[in-house]
Amino acid sequence: MTYMHILISDAGKHLDAKVTMRGWIYNKRSSGSIAFLELRDGSGFIQAVVSKKAVDEATWDAADQLTQESAVTITGAVSAHPKQDGVYELQVSNIHIVHIAAEYPIANKEHGPEFLMDNRHLWLRSKRQWAVQRIRDEVIRAIYSFYHERGYVKVDTPILTPNACEGATELFDIEYFDEGTMHLSQSGQLYLEAAIMSVGRGFDFGPVFRAEKSKTRKHLTEFWMMDAEAAFVEHDESLDIQEALIKYIAKSCLDHCKAEFTILERDTSKLEAMLDLPFERLTYTDAIEKLKTLGSDIAFGEDLGADDEEMLTKDSAVPVFIHKWPKAIKPFYMKQDPENAELVLNNDLIGIENAGEIIGGSQREDDYDKLQAEIIKEGLEGDEYAWYLDLRKYGSVPHSGYGLGLERVVRWMSGVQHIRETIPFPRMINRIRP
Ligand code: 4AD
Repeated sequence: MTYMHILISDAGKHLDAKVTMRGWIYNKRSSGSIAFLELRDGSGFIQAVVSKKAVDEATWDAADQLTQESAVTITGAVSAHPKQDGVYELQVSNIHIVHIAAEYPIANKEHGPEFLMDNRHLWLRSKRQWAVQRIRDEVIRAIYSFYHERGYVKVDTPILTPNACEGATELFDIEYFDEGTMHLSQSGQLYLEAAIMSVGRGFDFGPVFRAEKSKTRKHLTEFWMMDAEAAFVEHDESLDIQEALIKYIAKSCLDHCKAEFTILERDTSKLEAMLDLPFERLTYTDAIEKLKTLGSDIAFGEDLGADDEEMLTKDSAVPVFIHKWPKAIKPFYMKQDPENAELVLNNDLIGIENAGEIIGGSQREDDYDKLQAEIIKEGLEGDEYAWYLDLRKYGSVPHSGYGLGLERVVRWMSGVQHIRETIPFPRMINRIRP
């Protein structure tokens, strides 16, 4: 007799019914005449209880043979956990072995991070890694919903590019047929600016590449960026949109990732509290003053280090926008502050709980002559930016945008220490395998 195949996550809908689940053995313990199999199927985890008295000999033998990560289909009746609300078990009647796994290298004990990274293809199956990938999926889903609810159009920007968006020092080069040396995109922003003059407001979402020599818990060489851009949106409104986006993402995770947060032992009280509070807005100038009073030796005109970001947000209940930075240390495309020609209308957004910088954005220079002067100053004149300048020639409008680093946000939401756990197969300065 065959029974309905269900996902573990749907067990509650089938209380007392006899069903079949398909998955892998995550863990097994037995005591005499009873065996407890922890089954995982990707949708969740469930304890399958095999009682020697209740099953035939073949099923009891099958339970005995099962090794960690063996693949099975298990039939049984769904029951409520005797003590835990909302938790279900499977009272097993039959086990069909699909594959007996060889001795699994990742045992239920502490392994070093290098060993786990070498076995990333297997480590992904571990509970914590499963939970982080699910939170990543939720963040992605939230981003799409946020923009689609607000009339943004998803626009795909190219990965192979002849120009540099964020400065030439961190580019990966590739030889492109007869065209010479091209690069892997650092951000789709410049192309997105062209696209929103068609669709009004748009976002892209894809892998970007930075040949960054930073060996930190927050840097990858390949990461996923969501760039968003909107016509007629100026600096202050752009900050409002960014704040709404981050609150929307946090709320989606809080609403839909409870099981994942439990697995990760993530205390979500700060995320919850943040939802009802306005984010702090600090000018770069004020941030430098504040940092000096907090003991930093930073000077006006310098970039903020990770320690500075931490100092500024350590006691904060909300993320902090640091905006209006010195023009001298920012890319050519940022709009000059009309109130101070030395500054630009840009912002970073620093998350709480040591999340660091999660968004970087700006209003864009929409004046043809000013932008051209910046392009010349940076030595970028020529064909590669001519089309970008063109955008300021035909119906130029004020517009703003920003880029969000997906893995930075997933790191923050999930509470994992190192960014390498937030992407299935991380690429870092010292890691490109598996
Ligand atoms: O601040 P960035 O460099 O901004 C841009 O690239 C703009 N063109 C985006 C735009 O305006 N559309 O990068 C944006 C974000 C950072 O705030 C950070 O979250 C993330 O990308 N990021 C990284 N994440 C992981 N590893 C790295 N090496 C990263 N570099 C930047």
